Amino acid sequence: MDVLQAIEDRRSIRNFKKLKISKEIIEDILNCGRLAPSAKNRQPWYFVIVQGNIKSQIADLMIEDFSKRNSKEERIKIGCPSSVIATANVIKQAPILILVFKEKNDNWLVEDNLSIGTCIENMCLRATELGLGTLWIRDTRYVASEIANLVHYSDLELNCALDLGYANQFPNPRPRKN
Ligand SMILES: Cc1cc2nc3c(=O)[nH]c(=O)nc-3n(C[C@H](O)[C@H](O)[C@H](O)COP(=O)(O)O)c2cc1C
Repeated sequence: MDVLQAIEDRRSIRNFKKLKISKEIIEDILNCGRLAPSAKNRQPWYFVIVQGNIKSQIADLMIEDFSKRNSKEERIKIGCPSSVIATANVIKQAPILILVFKEKNDNWLVEDNLSIGTCIENMCLRATELGLGTLWIRDTRYVASEIANLVHYSDLELNCALDLGYANQFPNPRPRKN
């Protein structure tokens, strides 16, 4: 598959088959993230792979946090949409969740965030090429420190997460601006 094809074929996947992903495939996809460009070559990413019970606990943290925010106004104020619950349910269902951490360093905030974007997209495109689906996730952010504590990386900051698995749906392309 060439790059253009992978760009065109990639979709956000929210329904995965219960198929195991081999260690070789996971490592291959992480390696493609690792090869991404980064500002000052800082390579600010750290990956933690979770599955099973820990993955479910992460989803539960998201659901509990959302239900604690009892007014719609509060949720809108912090930009916490009800899609958090939907995302948490996808996390429960997906075979693997890759947590993407970075160092806490405000001097490189913008650059490190941009660099992590390049890294994630590399992984999404490689996953597409290998016949897997991904969901890039920001809805973990409301419980970022709780997740970091849960996996014992509280010295790092959770940036985002990536669900990975074999797709059980084949969505049409989502709309794009001209
Ligand atoms: C930085 C980023 C964060 C995202 N976070 C979420 C998320 O938390 N939950 C979710 O369901 N989708 C999330 N998405 C997926 C977007 O909703 C999706 O990319 C967009 O609707 C376009 O659909 P497509 O990826 O199938 O082209 C995220 C995408 C990006 C790039």
